[in-house]
Amino acid sequence: MKFIDSDSLLSGSVGQRLTRAETSQSFGPALADQSAAPRNPVELSPRPPKLLVAGIFAGVGGFEEGFRQAGHASTMLCEFDPAARHVLARRFENTEITEDVRALTRLPDCAVLTAGFPCQDLSQVGRRRGIAGPNSGLIESVFKLLKESSRGPQWVVLENVPFMLTLDGGRAIRMVTNRFEEMGFSWAYRTIDARAFGLPQRRRRVVLIASRDHDPRPVLLTNDVGALGPGKRGNYACGFYWTEGNTGLGWAVDAIPPLKGGSALHIPSPPAIWFPRRRAIAVPAIEDAERLQGFEAGWTCLEDFDHRAGRKRWRMVGNAVSVPVAKWIAERLTAKVEQFNDERAEPLPEIGSWPSAAWGRGARRGKAVVSEWPVSEPSLHLASFLTHRVRPLSKKAAGGFLSRLVKSTLRYEHAFRADLEHHVESFKED
Ligand SMILES: C[S@@+](CC[C@H](N)C(=O)[O-])C[C@H]1O[C@@H](n2cnc3c(N)ncnc32)[C@H](O)[C@@H]1O
Repeated sequence: MKFIDSDSLLSGSVGQRLTRAETSQSFGPALADQSAAPRNPVELSPRPPKLLVAGIFAGVGGFEEGFRQAGHASTMLCEFDPAARHVLARRFENTEITEDVRALTRLPDCAVLTAGFPCQDLSQVGRRRGIAGPNSGLIESVFKLLKESSRGPQWVVLENVPFMLTLDGGRAIRMVTNRFEEMGFSWAYRTIDARAFGLPQRRRRVVLIASRDHDPRPVLLTNDVGALGPGKRGNYACGFYWTEGNTGLGWAVDAIPPLKGGSALHIPSPPAIWFPRRRAIAVPAIEDAERLQGFEAGWTCLEDFDHRAGRKRWRMVGNAVSVPVAKWIAERLTAKVEQFNDERAEPLPEIGSWPSAAWGRGARRGKAVVSEWPVSEPSLHLASFLTHRVRPLSKKAAGGFLSRLVKSTLRYEHAFRADLEHHVESFKED
């Protein structure tokens, strides 16, 4: 198998971190405030109390690792998949690990409950069975546990795909928020892009925080640096999904599209990257995919568990919560944050999709006018971020994608198609 050294594919200089101002130069003008400093900087408490965290649907521990980095500690992890449990056992020694949320009869003593519940039924590329589907419907087990724990955790943190705001006229988000309100919780949710945290992965996810004891709105909704405008390609590497090509490309400029637990071909697979300077089409290493989610390289290494673990690793990494996003939330739960101003609350739609951010407290609900960028951490260009060798996209994968692309009505750059053709041709020369 041929490998390409990602150093030779750099389109920016090695190790050079970009500030927001530099990033916006490469991406085009920002839509909102350009200043480097966040508008509402968080003032950290001198010694934040350490919170005990129970993680349901823990996967490989994206939430848990972010919370750990913020000084909190996991007390129980619940995860159905044996391979993911194997990773958790290695990464969170001395933490109780349980298997099935449906078998839990009560929650452990904890201040925070995290639950990045399954997205298969809510995802655009998934089965779209909705919130009552066999996988995403498992959120009911979480509500059952919360109902039965009279004191309960102070905070509940959920995560899922943004399509949950749109599918079936926003049925999933309406159901989740109604359930919380029935149990006396306030709630706030926000769509957050992992690129805001310095990761060159365009990964938009809905984070919802609910609490009976606290106001979750300041935690999630008061920090905002404004969204970046659409990126100009320049000579930067672009991510895309070689499994697509009929109705979409998953195109991302100077970033990879969201890592996924599945694909249009129903197998977990890596995205591909086009390096225009080198006319190369390649696939990142799993270790870089782990880093693109904020884990250390090798986080899901399963050599001592299953030698055919490649696909499993891509699925587990694709399912995970990005660690720096989780860390930011975890820090804000114990930080002094400024009050949320709800004087000019815009109502939520009675029917149809819900907005990208919103809140409910007492008898009131409102749309939140915030971007998907609560912060703007310095980032590396995608090509500079990669530290492991990339592998050329196989002839079969590239050829299949190319033939779908040329038959499609999708818009794409001529240079991209030319480089794909060049890539496929290069196999014939071998
Ligand atoms: C979207 S992933 C969550 C990923 C996790 N937050 C992370 O950072 O890796 C959903 C997880 O729920 C797990 N799951 C599915 N059914 C479950 C069940 N009945 N009990 C516990 N976990 C379950 C899946 O195996 C999957 O790892």
